[in-house]
Amino acid sequence: MPAVAVALCAAVVALAALGGARARELSPGYYDASCPHVYDTVRRVIQEARAADPRILASLLRLHFHDCFVNGCDGSLLLDETPTMRSEKAANANVGSARGFPVVDDIKAALEHACPGVVSCADILALAAEISVELAGGPYWRVMLGRRDGMAANFDGAQILPSPQDPLDNLTKKFADLGLDDTDFVALQGAHTIGRAQCQSIQDRLYNFSGTEQPDPTLDRAYLAELRQRCPAAAGGDDTGLNDLDPVTPDRFDNSYYANIQRNRGVLRSDQAMLSAPEESAESTGPIVGRFASSQAQFFQSFSTAMIKMGNIAPLTGSMGEVRRNCRAVN
Ligand code: HEM
Ligand SMILES: *[C@@H]1O[C@H](CO)[C@@H](O)[C@H](O)[C@H]1NC(C)=O
Ligand SMILES: *[C@@H]1O[C@H](CO)[C@@H](O)[C@H](O)[C@H]1NC(C)=O
Repeated sequence: MPAVAVALCAAVVALAALGGARARELSPGYYDASCPHVYDTVRRVIQEARAADPRILASLLRLHFHDCFVNGCDGSLLLDETPTMRSEKAANANVGSARGFPVVDDIKAALEHACPGVVSCADILALAAEISVELAGGPYWRVMLGRRDGMAANFDGAQILPSPQDPLDNLTKKFADLGLDDTDFVALQGAHTIGRAQCQSIQDRLYNFSGTEQPDPTLDRAYLAELRQRCPAAAGGDDTGLNDLDPVTPDRFDNSYYANIQRNRGVLRSDQAMLSAPEESAESTGPIVGRFASSQAQFFQSFSTAMIKMGNIAPLTGSMGEVRRNCRAVN
């Protein structure tokens, strides 16, 4: 057989094996026998954390995304820096921004007490994401479980996490490369119906959009004025002030995020781009924004489907990786 055909066959076999492994090994009942109260335990710890910090629901949801997009959903995001390994926490998208790690530690401690050495950190993030969405008033889905934890962080991989500065085409490609289509992309962005963005994440839109020294023309004028008040041009170097990603219902998981975009009130450039990017570019995503703005049921359905797909990105199963005892370090 020619080398190309051999390589192709090998690729097909590898893909089939991967697909089979996923279907066979991740399942909602993975811990039914080994840790029957896993869901309630995670939920209880999150409820406790939420009493002191309502934003924690958003922060935990985001951690699952940042985990799955780098080396698949393998808990690599949770690993702390060592002398020989750069932590993903130090990457641009995470440093001074990703939060909720102490709550993940609390969840892990509660689970190690209930069923030592059984529940992976990658699964904790998947469960915490679903529970957080549900507690914020969003949809429910059955979380697929059975992921194992990776042995290394991937700092360089985390440096190319989707950025609000990426053009729309680049963003949809980053999602498509992981098997997430435009419907998944628009639905997953709907996670920005809860949580906060720092001024530094939007400063360019307010004062110097694409180097024009003008604000982003796709940002509603009245809303621009509000955001400029909260995020002054010369804040003395401190641009960590917080803005609601959904100013209408900041802590409620609903579809108002999409209506905001229709009113040119998407907070991040990447939020608004789904509707307002140059015409050809938003041709596919724009109508999906409209569909979710007019039907919360369709948004919830698509969000649940997309979260399960995102949670299926390259999981470690079987005897791959390990179940970490401490989410911050390999055993
Ligand atoms: C195009 C893709 C995306 C981009 C460019 C993006 C970018 C951002 C940025 C810049 C922030 C604010 C960070 C800060 O200022 O500290 C943020 C917050 C957030 N993101 Fe995304 N994001 C994307 C997709 C997603 C997805 C797929 C999810 C989850 C499914 C998600 C969940 C969140 C949540 C919940 C927050 C608020 C976190 C908190 O308040 O602690 N994002 N995102
Ligand atoms: C967008 O993607 C293209 C093609 O991969 C790349 O050349 C370009 O630098 C990217 N743009 C940004 C702003 O990242
Ligand atoms: C606006 O951005 C451009 C390009 O990034 C930069 O060269 C310019 O100095 C900025 N203007 C101001 C007033 O900061």
